[in-house]
Amino acid sequence: MRQPRLLRSLLLALFLVCQFCLASLAQAAQPSGIVLVAFGTSVDSAQSSLMDMEEAYAKAFPDTPLLWAYTSDKIRAKLAREGQKVFSVREALDECARRGLVDVRVQSLHITPGEEFSQLQRLLVRYVTLHPTLFDHVWLGHPLLESSRDLEEVLCAVMGTLPAARTARDAVVLMGHGNNRGPGDLTLACVATAFNTSDPRVFLATVEGGNGFAELVHEIEAQKPDKVYLQPFMLVAGDHAQNDLAGEDEESWASQLKARGLKVEARLTGLGSLPGIQNIFVRHTAETTDDLVHPAKIF
Ligand code: CO
Repeated sequence: MRQPRLLRSLLLALFLVCQFCLASLAQAAQPSGIVLVAFGTSVDSAQSSLMDMEEAYAKAFPDTPLLWAYTSDKIRAKLAREGQKVFSVREALDECARRGLVDVRVQSLHITPGEEFSQLQRLLVRYVTLHPTLFDHVWLGHPLLESSRDLEEVLCAVMGTLPAARTARDAVVLMGHGNNRGPGDLTLACVATAFNTSDPRVFLATVEGGNGFAELVHEIEAQKPDKVYLQPFMLVAGDHAQNDLAGEDEESWASQLKARGLKVEARLTGLGSLPGIQNIFVRHTAETTDDLVHPAKIF
C-alpha cells in the first residue's frame, strides 16, 4: 500500500514541477524590452540628464533590457564620427527583433505631443505594418505632458526644485524648445500659463515657435526682480541651454536681461535629471495601453 502512495506523491510533485517549468517557459517566451527615444545630444555635459533617466528606468524596470534611440540624424552622425554608435528608432527596433524581444515598450522622451512625437508614431506604425509578425506588442509611451495630471506633476517637479536661495522678489525664466509645426506650442503655452498662475514670477518662453522671449522681457523688467534664475525646460541642458539661454552672445536670454541691468543666474540642469519628471515618464511607460500591434478601437 505504501509504495503506490509514495509513487503517487512523487508523480504529483513531478507534475507540479513541470507545470511550474512550463509557466516559466511561457513567460520566458515573452521577453520584453524598452526603447527610450530622445532627440539626442552631442554635448557631453548634457548627456548626464540622459544617464539620470537611464538610471531611473534601470531602477523601475530592473530586469528589462533598455535601448536608446536618437531621432536626430545630425546628432547620430556627429556621434558616429566621434566613435559613438547610437541607434535610430528603426535600428533600435531591428535590434529588439534580433535579440528576440517581442514585447517592446517604446517611450517617447519628448516634452509635448508635438510634431516630433507625431513623426515617431508614424514611423512606428509603418514599421509594425511592414513587419506584422516581428513583435507581439509594441506599446507606445506618450510624452511628458499629455494630461492635466501630467501638468500638475510637472509643476510640482519643477517648482519643488527651484533654488532654495530664491527670494519672493526673484524671477525664474524657463526655456522650452517649441517649434512652428504641429500642436506642441499650444501645450507649452498652457504650461507657461500654469507656471505663471502658480507663481507670477515664474515664466516660460521657448527658443523657437510661438511662445517667444521678446514679449516677456518687458514684463520681467517691470517686476524689478533682484535676480532672475534661468533654467532649461528641456530634457537635457544641451546646445540651446548653454548658448541661447546662458551664452555670452548678446542675443542670449542671459545677455538680454543683463543688458537691462538685471542680475542673472543660470542653472543648467535638464528636466531628465529631476526625479519628479523621471517618475512621469516611468508611469507613462508602465501604464500605456497604446499597443500599435493590436490597436484598440476607442470610438
Ligand atoms: Co533646437
